[in-house]
Amino acid sequence: MERTLEGKKILLGISGSIAAYKAIEIMRELQKRGADVHVAVTPNALKFVSEVVLRTLSGHSVYREVVPEENPEIRHTSLASSVDLFLLAPATGNTIAKVACGIADNPVTASALAIGGGIICPAMNVKMYENPATVDNLKLLRDRGYIIVDSDEGELACGVSGKGRLARVETIVETVEGYFIPDFLSGKKVVVTAGPTREYVDPVRFISNPSSGKMGYELARIARAAGAEVVLISGKTCLQPPSGVKFVEVETVDEMRRAVLKHVKGADIYVSAAAVGDYRPVKRYENKIKKGADRIVIEFERTPDILSEVARSGLVRFVVGFAAETENLIENARKKLSSKGLDMVVANYVKGKVFGEDETECVIIGSDFEERVSGSKRKVAIEILKRISERL
Ligand SMILES: Cc1cc2nc3c(=O)[nH]c(=O)nc-3n(C[C@H](O)[C@H](O)[C@H](O)COP(=O)(O)O)c2cc1C
Repeated sequence: MERTLEGKKILLGISGSIAAYKAIEIMRELQKRGADVHVAVTPNALKFVSEVVLRTLSGHSVYREVVPEENPEIRHTSLASSVDLFLLAPATGNTIAKVACGIADNPVTASALAIGGGIICPAMNVKMYENPATVDNLKLLRDRGYIIVDSDEGELACGVSGKGRLARVETIVETVEGYFIPDFLSGKKVVVTAGPTREYVDPVRFISNPSSGKMGYELARIARAAGAEVVLISGKTCLQPPSGVKFVEVETVDEMRRAVLKHVKGADIYVSAAAVGDYRPVKRYENKIKKGADRIVIEFERTPDILSEVARSGLVRFVVGFAAETENLIENARKKLSSKGLDMVVANYVKGKVFGEDETECVIIGSDFEERVSGSKRKVAIEILKRISERL
């Protein structure tokens, strides 16, 4: 697990929702990423989760009283000056209303008033969530700079179905990670392609490649966290699309081409991280090819070159390609840069392991520079996007 939150002190505020038990999972995930998590609770939250669990797992005493009789200390203000982030999860309708009004009658609301910003993850019954009071309170808090992680739709604890479920733990943790990434792509539109393409031989067989999509998904995730509007166009992968991006799933090169040409209009940056097939069968059999002959011959033809087409179209300001090479890495990547008219190429050796791995090593190449970067795909994605934003 990459320690993306190393050195960060996070105050986790828990209020009296049935989803309070999920705060423990959120805390564990933040800790796995290196965060030091302190906990503040409303009195009602302690009816849903035990103080012993919160104290033991956080490694700190739980902030449970604003004015304790013994050892009085002004904890909401000392926390306010020392934490890097206030995360309210789950946030009840009641606590959201109090935070919006500036009420400070318990450790969570007092911390919110003293800190004045952070991430709020609402969780409540659909009627409470859609009540104009809650809608207005959340809008007010958003306007004041809080990040609101919208509730999910689904079955609710009260037995009805609708919007109001606490967002997935992964989405909340991703939002926390994104909080610490500077907004260096704010106001920009970024289109990223990822994953493999498939070209069918017959209805049940296709030619593809082992691309996992991880690099492209990280690029989309980081671009979003850095403030960009992001479209992720992806072949079939096993990955969960990052939250907050427009996700378009495709299979074949033709489908990817159509989606790319539709979405790149007006984009600032196009990053082609997909492993797009260069060849496809000339003929796609209508029915399954039956087992029979000892050998069969399948003829292949070139697929359209989406990257060149986008680069030549002038529809995007900055075009980046990936070059997966098994030999003459830099030479071949530089050829790709100039022959396709790209602004930048990211070159990967694929002789070692790259596909499906969490780590990668590559060289970022522009007409006047070359830079080797290695590490997690997340770290490499940050480096690539920073280089792009510097040159945009
Ligand atoms: C079993 C149970 C589950 C509840 N779940 C929620 C919830 O998910 N969201 C919510 O806003 N209120 C929920 N409530 C109501 C809150 O607990 C109530 O509004 C309380 O005043 C919230 O206090 P707090 O915001 O100070 O923690 C629930 C109540 C009960 C009895």
